Amino acid sequence: MSTRSELVIQDLVKAVREVLWRHDVTFEEYRAAVGFLMKYTKGPEFEVPLTCDMLFNATISDIEMKHRKGSISNLEGPYFLEAVPEIADRIKTRGEQGDELIIEGRVTDLAGNAVEGAQLYIWHSDSQGFYSGFREDLPTDLYRGRKVIGPTGAFHVRTTMPAPYTIPHDGPSGELLGFLGRHPWRPAHVHFKVRAAGFVEHTTQAYFAGGQWVDSDCVEGVRPALVHEPEERGGAKVLKINFVLDPA
Ligand code: DHB
Ligand code: FE
Repeated sequence: MSTRSELVIQDLVKAVREVLWRHDVTFEEYRAAVGFLMKYTKGPEFEVPLTCDMLFNATISDIEMKHRKGSISNLEGPYFLEAVPEIADRIKTRGEQGDELIIEGRVTDLAGNAVEGAQLYIWHSDSQGFYSGFREDLPTDLYRGRKVIGPTGAFHVRTTMPAPYTIPHDGPSGELLGFLGRHPWRPAHVHFKVRAAGFVEHTTQAYFAGGQWVDSDCVEGVRPALVHEPEERGGAKVLKINFVLDPA
């Protein structure tokens, strides 16, 4: 009996060979492609996961949903950090920057019961598209937090609006985007991860209707169910979002 990796890798090779046949790919073109791949051995290490995520992470999230009934998952991206401050109702930001954003909703099981004790991780960029912990001037307690969900399942967190962001594009990943005729921008988004004992870990993102690049995300992560139309409340934007967890 074949192992799972044999099956998947054999099919992958077959699919690539079919494409080579379909387009009469020449030896010269093949050598150029190998030359391109060699650039990954000379660039920074993050270029390999970056290219893989750019092309396939959202697909893996979609496949995962075949086996789940809860709210839909989406890419984690490269900027999740485990060690973040526990928050009450406010994420620490550079207060002078960016519109206020209120994020509120509930964490429930499939039947709508509160999942008390769930850990809701929230992280997003600052108003210029930068993530804390990945720049000298942005310590990791900014723009990130972990909310412990109480008995009603509800949460209400204040922060600031994230901004569109370019993925690193001065290396081979950027060159590949160029080959595909694509720009390097992601639309403004907020990341979430929910962990609770007895439930599948849930990782997702929220996007904003009408925002720049929502229709052409460079990592093709946007799904209609993840695009929110925020309400206005006292000068702040309000993102209403519920997390429905699947049992483990
Ligand atoms: C990727 C995802 C993100 O959420 C982000 O901010 C940057 C890059 C990615 O999948 O490559
Ligand atoms: Fe992100």
